[in-house]
Amino acid sequence: MIFPAELLSLLARTGKLVALTGAGVSQESGLRTFRDSQVGLWAQYKPEDLASPEAFARDPKLVWDWYAWRREAIKGARPNPGHYALVEIEKKKPQFILITQNVDGLHRMAGTHNLLELHGNIQRVRCSECGKFAETWDEDSETVPRCDHCDGLLRPDVVWFGESLPRDQLERAVEAARACDVYFSIGTSGVVQPAASLAHAAKKNGAVIVEINAEPTPLTPQADFSFHGRSGEILPALVKAAFNH
Ligand code: APR
Repeated sequence: MIFPAELLSLLARTGKLVALTGAGVSQESGLRTFRDSQVGLWAQYKPEDLASPEAFARDPKLVWDWYAWRREAIKGARPNPGHYALVEIEKKKPQFILITQNVDGLHRMAGTHNLLELHGNIQRVRCSECGKFAETWDEDSETVPRCDHCDGLLRPDVVWFGESLPRDQLERAVEAARACDVYFSIGTSGVVQPAASLAHAAKKNGAVIVEINAEPTPLTPQADFSFHGRSGEILPALVKAAFNH
């Protein structure tokens, strides 16, 4: 794969790099993206109709089971070359900040340290009433497990539609996007706010925008460089071309 010389020399020169990743980065690890159609038992639901406080209030067991099913899928998943290429960038450029919308924990499993998880982590579970984190719970329970402390229903520690993002993670993400020279948008449809607006904050402050995605997105017209294909192939090739020649 050939990358523009202008982009390669910019990547070699600057340390101020930021990337935002989405579900597309984990697709090659065997995890489904959000805007793919759902499968099997879940085909009749849209993720948006399961990932909300209203859905949990209406039918907590349905929502709990969907997350239990996703945790099970994640259990067998391993990072792919795209995740590892992002670890390489951090090694070459220690100021690199990786912002993810993914809740699957694969960036950390791959070895990324400078990581902001904007939408939480599916492996963490907390009480929907008192907020206390649960260390263990019965994944096979017939009913939604309850909090040891207050008996409230347990829920995944992820951000649902209509909920606020973890404030410290979002503030640090905005700050990083505003301060970077190069902003990568990788494997995300770029339609969910506020994550989608980080690219615009970066661009407004003069960053070069690089998009790596399977297909064009609403960000594509604003991107300085767009690469359409699999992130597990494009990212390792880009890292090799920029840093390991
Ligand atoms: N490499 C690169 N891009 C890919 C790949 C791949 N192998 N496979 C799929 N994609 C692209 C798709 O073309 C799509 O544009 O990844 C994007 C995934 O988009 P979404 O499914 O919308 O996922 P994401 O952008 O992460 O969703 C954002 O929405 O439901 C919420 O909270 C959830 O964090 C999620 C948020």
